Amino acid sequence: MNDGDGTPAAAERGRRFGPLGTALVIIPTYNEAENVKAIVARVREAVPEAHVLVADDNSPDGTGKLADELAAEDDHVQVLHRKGKEGLGAAYLAGFRWGLEHGYGVLVEMDADGSHQPEELPRLLTALKGADLVLGSRWVPGGRVVNWPKSREFISRGGSMYSRIALDLPLRDITGGYRAFRSETLEGLGLEDVASQGYCFQVDLARRAMKAGYHVVEVPITFVEREFGDSKMSRDILVEALWRVTTWGVGERVGKVLGRDRQQSGRPSDGAAAEPAELVGDKSAKVPDGNA
Ligand code: GDD
Ligand code: MN
Repeated sequence: MNDGDGTPAAAERGRRFGPLGTALVIIPTYNEAENVKAIVARVREAVPEAHVLVADDNSPDGTGKLADELAAEDDHVQVLHRKGKEGLGAAYLAGFRWGLEHGYGVLVEMDADGSHQPEELPRLLTALKGADLVLGSRWVPGGRVVNWPKSREFISRGGSMYSRIALDLPLRDITGGYRAFRSETLEGLGLEDVASQGYCFQVDLARRAMKAGYHVVEVPITFVEREFGDSKMSRDILVEALWRVTTWGVGERVGKVLGRDRQQSGRPSDGAAAEPAELVGDKSAKVPDGNA
């Protein structure tokens, strides 16, 4: 089951989850001067006990300085200054590392531009009580997108669908960037060798979590397109996503075929040999079809 709560599925499987600990909301920024103060204020209001880390790539528009002003007046706000634009993935990896080093129990990914509404964060955190990873999802029942041009929706739905099929993952919104991880989950993903830089970073982490067998729950969100500033989506980012997802998909299929051959030659009568050895994640994360 995946009803947006997460608890029933976990209970069904008899799995117990530990307490959550303090949450760190990581907000990567590149030229978000018009957005950074508003988003931090909204997070602080929506989840006052959470801490915020702005991970800024030396934005030419002065976002980093504005974030410093926030940090100076609020001990729940920190800023990670990075030397230059290295992509969303690198900024999150640095933010995760910082958060794990500082002992946070939950690491949240959130865009700076208001697309991920901080007011929905309590729902994600509630679901995380019964999960290893919660994905804010636009493409499960109850999820939606506001103010997106049809072209962008097409790219996003198409990207998620392609990733789902290529990687054989039962997730509806694989590219989304509004997520809550338990620290133990992140530690189990092998972040040292993540090379994805752009938006395929999100696909990479979802894929790793499923492969590692974590309990992943999708919670419906309303994604609101930004009012101020520009998206950093580019052709290069799309191309990177397409080739990486395809490479992973092909690699996994080849791996499965080789694994099956090996199993079949070793144990010819074992009927379970056709079952994928690298069982992708938690089947209970599956949501009903029909919303692609
Ligand atoms: N530090 C840093 N460095 N931050 C970056 C960089 C970078 O190179 N590139 C983008 N960001 C920040 C932006 O400032 C913003 O806070 C957040 O990452 C998302 O960037 P957007 O440019 O607003 O992304 P989007 O709206 O096109 O895409 C969103 O939806 C995609 C799925 O459709 C994001 O949530 C993506 O993660 C998601 O894959
Ligand atoms: Mn955006």
